[in-house]
Amino acid sequence: MSKRIGILTGGGDAPGLNAVIRAIVKYGVGQKGWSVFGIEEAYNGLFKPTKRTWELTPDNIGGLLTKGGTILGTTNKGNPFEPDENGEIPAPKIAQSVADMQLDGLISIGGDGSQTIAHRLMTEYGVPIVGVPKTIDNDLFHTDYTFGFWSAVDVATDALDRLHTTAESHDRVMVLEVMGRTAGWIALYAGLSGGADCILIPEIPYDPSAVIHKIMERRGAGKHFTLVIVAEGAISQEEASETLPLTGTSNKFVSGKASHKLADHIGDHLDVECRVTVLGHLQRGGSPVAFDRFLATRFGVHAVDLVENEQWGEMVVLQNNQMTSISLSEVAGTPREIPLDHELIQTARKAGVSLGD
Ligand code: F6P
Repeated sequence: MSKRIGILTGGGDAPGLNAVIRAIVKYGVGQKGWSVFGIEEAYNGLFKPTKRTWELTPDNIGGLLTKGGTILGTTNKGNPFEPDENGEIPAPKIAQSVADMQLDGLISIGGDGSQTIAHRLMTEYGVPIVGVPKTIDNDLFHTDYTFGFWSAVDVATDALDRLHTTAESHDRVMVLEVMGRTAGWIALYAGLSGGADCILIPEIPYDPSAVIHKIMERRGAGKHFTLVIVAEGAISQEEASETLPLTGTSNKFVSGKASHKLADHIGDHLDVECRVTVLGHLQRGGSPVAFDRFLATRFGVHAVDLVENEQWGEMVVLQNNQMTSISLSEVAGTPREIPLDHELIQTARKAGVSLGD
């Protein structure tokens, strides 16, 4: 039966968002003959007069597989269950727009914040929604990977490769800061892929003297340069004992703080040149790598299948490399941190990497 659906992207962008949109349009419109509408800037397109919705067809999605960002726009601000600048709660207006547009439902592509909102819109306002998980941080439960993660890992690995040659030429310690406020997946994967000597992640508060020890150990072995990768949320053991870790999109968060603090410590304690690179949003921009295009396409197609089967309230996930889905009610409001007994943590230790503890 023909359907009318809306697609939106919410939260921070990630390479592969456009590839999901493309897959939904190619399958939903191209194969099934449905009508698919893009909604601008997350849910804002359904209630803000300055934002719009428009029909997506195979003709206006050309080139999307490789295009970074999201053609729909996104935001990681605002919650439609909280009063807007006019003191009004947007959620009922969203439900009304869905009804006015005669949509059968929505596909929400976003992180756990977006999926938690999707679940509330369904349960409290009856808006039928299927979720697609996204984040470069890979910190969502129930899915092996989120798309965007491998693109970020690739950027960070490339950065380590480049830092490697210049570090070696100058006998320097290079500190690379990558994203990950509460979970260190990017740091761990890129650190292993790019041969970092120290990998510091939020899950393991570090002892700065362990990093110094690693640098000295390498010197003793005739290696006069060291590569350190630091997740932006990594903290020292001293900080861990005195403060609560920063979470989510807290305004108190300062990009670059973790890496500069560590570099200052190294510079104060060793006669060595230390340089910092903060990779920042380079990790979120640009074309998705092959795996993210592939995963985004599988997610988009599976989301259409869920809509077809009226499996509203489900979110597509990858489990043991199989496409399946879980209930939006199971999407935790907390990030998936790296378990301390994770195989990759053991692998890093066995490969002689210091985790700062
Ligand atoms: O959730 C993805 C993420 O990229 C985090 O790793 C990062 O700290 C944050 O978003 C940055 O968000 P913003 O776009 O607000 O700078």
